[in-house]
Amino acid sequence: MKSLEEIKKIREEKRKELDLRVNLKADTHEKHILVCRGTGCTSSKSEDIINNFKKLIKEKNIPNVRVIQTGCFGLCAKGPIVIIRPEDTFYAMVTPGDCEEIVNTHLIEGKTVDRLLCKDIDGTQVKRLDDLGFYKKQERIALKNCGKIDPENIDEYIAFDGYLALEKVLFSMSQDEVIEEITKSGLRGRGGAGFPTGKKWAFTKMAEGDQKYVVCNADEGDPGAFMDRSILEGDPHSVIEAMMIAGYAIGADQGYIYVRAEYPIAVQRFGKAIEQAREYGILGKNIWGTDFSFDLNIRLGAGAFVCGEETALLESIEGRAGRPRLKPPFPANVGLWQKPTLINNVETYANITKIILNGADWYAGIGTEKSKGTKVFALGGNVVNTGLVEVPMGTTLREIVYDIGGGIPNGRDFKAAQTGGPSRRMYTKRILGCSNRL
Ligand SMILES: Cc1cc2nc3c(=O)[nH]c(=O)nc-3n(C[C@H](O)[C@H](O)[C@H](O)COP(=O)(O)O)c2cc1C
Ligand code: FES
Repeated sequence: MKSLEEIKKIREEKRKELDLRVNLKADTHEKHILVCRGTGCTSSKSEDIINNFKKLIKEKNIPNVRVIQTGCFGLCAKGPIVIIRPEDTFYAMVTPGDCEEIVNTHLIEGKTVDRLLCKDIDGTQVKRLDDLGFYKKQERIALKNCGKIDPENIDEYIAFDGYLALEKVLFSMSQDEVIEEITKSGLRGRGGAGFPTGKKWAFTKMAEGDQKYVVCNADEGDPGAFMDRSILEGDPHSVIEAMMIAGYAIGADQGYIYVRAEYPIAVQRFGKAIEQAREYGILGKNIWGTDFSFDLNIRLGAGAFVCGEETALLESIEGRAGRPRLKPPFPANVGLWQKPTLINNVETYANITKIILNGADWYAGIGTEKSKGTKVFALGGNVVNTGLVEVPMGTTLREIVYDIGGGIPNGRDFKAAQTGGPSRRMYTKRILGCSNRL
């Protein structure tokens, strides 16, 4: 159990220690080797890469180097990815066998291993992550911490303003003020229907009930989609913190996250994050001496697409076959175990802490008149740079396919794009304001 003062101290001290992850001019003798442990890179042996680096650094007695696992960097096509900070060297398609050369050449001789540098869209070799065309048009809000922190280390999350939004809400905002801020931000649900998030929170707060619930929809059944999985794998605490803020705003003390069992890394990391938050007294009774209590549990889905539909999901959590309920009544009034229930998607939650910390006006200033903020896309199929991208609303398909995605392999012509899976297709069209034509 940690007091609020202790959490603040961790934030201050750990932030200094991790400054070199973001401040590339950091005056330090330390180096952090960041290795992607998202599902894609893990399936290409990034765990072995971490173990090899650790072993070699120990054997060769190299001081001031830390090896850190992170979530997805986005450019999955070039995985496994290794980034060395503070110099920000971006090594692509690294194999466990490359570790020795990186250690000898980069860490000992201070030179770059040129053959492992990434080729940009125009074929030039690029040294630093920020110089890659893939990242230039992106704006990372929901994915802010993915690829930057160790998702299994709560202190690293705290260092990058983690649980600061919760503190702000609990000590300086009323329930209505939180809802007003989310409403003003213009955030709309990222799960498919694009329903205004603040409005849904207000309905659930107004609903009468002695018990209310907060639910996170992490079923992500759309083929090819892995946005929610990557957020849970790379930054699980941001979802926990947002669900707590939602709990405070609507008057709920219990949350559930419904994740598909095919996401073992996400489930394991989210479970660990819950344990750590409980250990620190962030989840539990009378958090930081306030009247607010909140706890969270995981429920696994068995992979039925329909269980992503919110009422089928509630049936499944209650232990029945996942069949949709008739609506109305909506879950805000009659939800889990017939109680008022707030259901939001993972990516929707991933925006909440940033809105609370930076303000509704900041968020509303990004995107288009009707669709605010950013959208995360899993870019797959016949594009050069397959992976995970986050772009402001209003970004055109052309920009995503060509400027970020690098176009069609071997200079072939563009034929068609499927924007989203069965349930997200209409939504993507509505949000980006585009058709499937470029
Ligand atoms: C057949 C079907 C499947 C759905 N699958 C998902 C899903 O995998 N993930 C999700 O967040 N929402 C899914 N939805 C939308 C949810 O019912 C719900 O609108 C959403 O979780 C609400 O969260 P939001 O307001 O944050 O978007 C699906 C809807 C339908 C009709
Ligand atoms: S999983 Fe490693 S970059 Fe996406």
